Amino acid sequence: MTPSTRMTSKAAASAGSPDGPALQLTGVSAGYGTTPVLRDVSLTVPPGGVTAVVGPNGAGKSTLLKVISGLLPVMAGSVEIAGAEVTREPAERRVDRGVCLVPEGRGVYRGLTVRENLVMQARRGQEDAAVGRAVEMFPVLGTRLSQQAGTMSGGEQQMLALSAAVAREPRLILVDEPSLGLAPVVVDVVFEFLAGMRGDDVALLVVDQYVHRVLALADQAHVLLRGALAFSGPAAELAEADAFERYLGEEVVA
Ligand SMILES: Nc1ncnc2c1ncn2[C@@H]1O[C@H](COP(=O)(O)OP(=O)(O)O)[C@@H](O)[C@H]1O
Ligand SMILES: [Mg+2]
Repeated sequence: MTPSTRMTSKAAASAGSPDGPALQLTGVSAGYGTTPVLRDVSLTVPPGGVTAVVGPNGAGKSTLLKVISGLLPVMAGSVEIAGAEVTREPAERRVDRGVCLVPEGRGVYRGLTVRENLVMQARRGQEDAAVGRAVEMFPVLGTRLSQQAGTMSGGEQQMLALSAAVAREPRLILVDEPSLGLAPVVVDVVFEFLAGMRGDDVALLVVDQYVHRVLALADQAHVLLRGALAFSGPAAELAEADAFERYLGEEVVA
């Protein structure tokens, strides 16, 4: 069974406004201290499918995900999640709205076991189901349930991070560089998992260094260059040689 068959009914049950965008940023500027990193960023993420954000190192991709998840305040502009204005809402309220960030570097609780990581993220009463689903998606986790997460390989930790994200049954999953530092065979597993969630009633916003692979996965794509959007449109359009060269040729080696 693929992750998609399992996600559909659950995600649908928790969805509040299935037709509107999962996310809308309007004129967002944000940064650290007084200098903006993001400048006047406006983008829409549809309620299902995959949206890619690509761009060179330091362009502001992780900063963008922090703004969406509420970890970094905006200097200007607004953030709407599933039609609700959340610009001033703290991160924990946005979690309640179904936003889930899988940060760069995995974001698992290294000192907790695999099972404890999954149980912590699961909704009440859904703990065993969350563990079962994780093992079904990533069988290797089944042999590691009692192992401390921090002692696993990077790939296993990424599988745990993705399973823990799904355990919350989120509406909008933000995934930051899931393939970073992983062996190619594990990168394949991660992309297979992300592909398995396509078409569900859950929106994925994915940042990844493997630009061609993430564009092949995505429906929509945005190019971030030095904190501003240079392209927003169909991922297939950006993947075409001319457009790719124009927006990413000099900047991205992937
Ligand atoms: N915590 C921070 N404090 C100050 N500057 C930061 C911080 N995090 C990132 N930056 C700066 O913001 C810019 C964008 O960084 P980031 O969003 O991490 O880019 P990307 O994820 O696209 O590589 C970079 O110039 C980076 O140095
Ligand atoms: Mg980053």
